[in-house]
Amino acid sequence: MITLKKAKMEDAAYILTIRNDLEIRQSSGGSTFIQDDEHYIWLKNFLTRKNHFYFIAELNNTPIGVVRFQPYNEINQSEISITIYPQTNQKKGYGKTVLRLGIEFIRKNTEINEIIARVLKTNPLSIEFFKNNHFSPFFEDDQFIFLKLCLE
Ligand SMILES: CC(C)(COP(=O)(O)OP(=O)(O)OC[C@H]1O[C@@H](n2cnc3c(N)ncnc32)[C@H](O)[C@@H]1OP(=O)(O)O)[C@@H](O)C(=O)NCCC(=O)NCCS
Repeated sequence: MITLKKAKMEDAAYILTIRNDLEIRQSSGGSTFIQDDEHYIWLKNFLTRKNHFYFIAELNNTPIGVVRFQPYNEINQSEISITIYPQTNQKKGYGKTVLRLGIEFIRKNTEINEIIARVLKTNPLSIEFFKNNHFSPFFEDDQFIFLKLCLE
């Protein structure tokens, strides 16, 4: 069974491994390598901030990825970031379930009613993933396409 648990500082190493994975960096647009100390400060700060949510997705208690929500432009909007990891776990339907569970949490526990995904234009599989999960493109710049899911 796939479940989400709230990330804690003890998950820092797992989160950093994903963040620093070369392929993940290339697919997410965060291209720089992050050092341990910088990561710990960033995560500690993230976990204490209002309307910032970080989950570890687990399949039968083994981590299969992460999903994160953080404020976007408007008070009712949240930006999602989702990664299924390692890559051997991808394309098995886990991403779809993790997305659904994350959004369920947001629905039940916050006033947020729009979820925004910002995806690199060079990452067509992720764009398809969000489109197939009811997100619609609403904006693009040179680098990214922005997709939105309305919860009401
Ligand atoms: C985007 C991402 C989260 C999707 O996760 P995933 O677990 O691969 O997603 P799913 O398996 O639910 O769906 C992906 C595709 O796999 C296919 N798939 C799902 N279950 C399958 C199965 N059992 N057998 C074969 N194919 C399957 C589906 O066709 C699906 O494509 P669709 O969206 O066109 O229906 C993942 O690819 C990832 O972590 N990418 C790197 C980080 C990233 O780019 N994140 C997005 C930006 S925030």
